[in-house]
Amino acid sequence: MKVLLTGGNGFVGSHLLDRLVANGIPTQLLLRRSAALRWVECHLHNAPIGIHYGSLSDPTSLKGALLGITHVIHCAGATKAASRQEFFRANQGGTSNLLKALSEADHAVKQIIFISSLAASRPATSSDPAQEEDSPQPVSAYGQSKQAAEETLKAQSPSPYLIIRPPVVYGPRDTEFFRIFQSFRYRYLPLLNRGKQELSLIYVKDLAAVVLSALLNPRLTNETLNVATVQAIRVHSLLEEVAKVMRKTPTFIPLPVPVLWPACLTSEFLAKWTATPTLLSRDKYKEIRAPGWVADTTKLHHLIDDFSPTSLEQSLDATVKWYSQQGWL
Ligand SMILES: NC(=O)c1ccc[n+]([C@@H]2O[C@H](COP(=O)([O-])OP(=O)(O)OC[C@H]3O[C@@H](n4cnc5c(N)ncnc54)[C@H](OP(=O)(O)O)[C@@H]3O)[C@@H](O)[C@H]2O)c1
Repeated sequence: MKVLLTGGNGFVGSHLLDRLVANGIPTQLLLRRSAALRWVECHLHNAPIGIHYGSLSDPTSLKGALLGITHVIHCAGATKAASRQEFFRANQGGTSNLLKALSEADHAVKQIIFISSLAASRPATSSDPAQEEDSPQPVSAYGQSKQAAEETLKAQSPSPYLIIRPPVVYGPRDTEFFRIFQSFRYRYLPLLNRGKQELSLIYVKDLAAVVLSALLNPRLTNETLNVATVQAIRVHSLLEEVAKVMRKTPTFIPLPVPVLWPACLTSEFLAKWTATPTLLSRDKYKEIRAPGWVADTTKLHHLIDDFSPTSLEQSLDATVKWYSQQGWL
């Protein structure tokens, strides 16, 4: 077995790499020349890990990346962008270019695992969680671009594939969910819509464990799989859990969601003006305004029997400890 891992230097990808290394699986990283290596450099000298420099947006650079590859984990993608086109270029275009390279390779790979997102599915609450087969209704350009990537994979994949849909991912090395931990430095915290939105979550190390399990025991062929550990938690309860782990007692100030609108509008305008990717946009507003992003995980529990996720308390605690050790908090 030899794996090609895209996005291996990013937050999720670097945890996938840790797992691949721990299992002694030879891995080739597809990295851009500009890629930061801080989460992967520890593996570059003493493990069967190689780097192929190239970009998913440059098809010619992908030639050679597939030499000797038997499996692909396609984790690269844009989670923030300056425009809708940028999301589609990175997520759908990048996937399409990778598939083209796979189709033109002189051998077929045995499996392609694609890290998609619950955002490709639909808003959902615990009373009607999103199932893998539900008709997709993504509300943001990000979700739509991931959904388009899924469709491209289904239509063009030359090999058996597995689409993995994680919800919000948290854990060491993350810089987005991290903002929640960071906000606890303040005494007063805004609570949008009384924190009623329901979320599924997954700890990054649990996600990596599921991906490795799917790689080593490929029981799922041409399937889509929701992968979440905390099945549904209200934002208010989540914040209380974080407060407990951080030993903080903030005062929550309930605010209506529309107060976020001007900030989203301004951030989106600045992003377009400066061509800098942003997370806060009118699209993000649509995701935040949704009643919930809850995944049905029945299929996960049926199909992966060795799945033993970390508890929310333990995983939040490990995450906070990591941020503290790094001096981020
Ligand atoms: N984080 C979450 O909460 C979450 C939730 C659901 C799904 N996901 C999915 O998980 C995947 C990883 O997300 P993440 O949070 O780990 O993001 P991240 O830290 O920003 O990592 C993204 C990775 O994709 C790479 N990449 C982007 N465009 C590329 C291109 N044209 N060619 C080659 N590599 C490219 C980046 O490389 P550079 O370092 O060179 O930019 C980076 O390694 C994404 O597909 C995302 O949609 C994430």
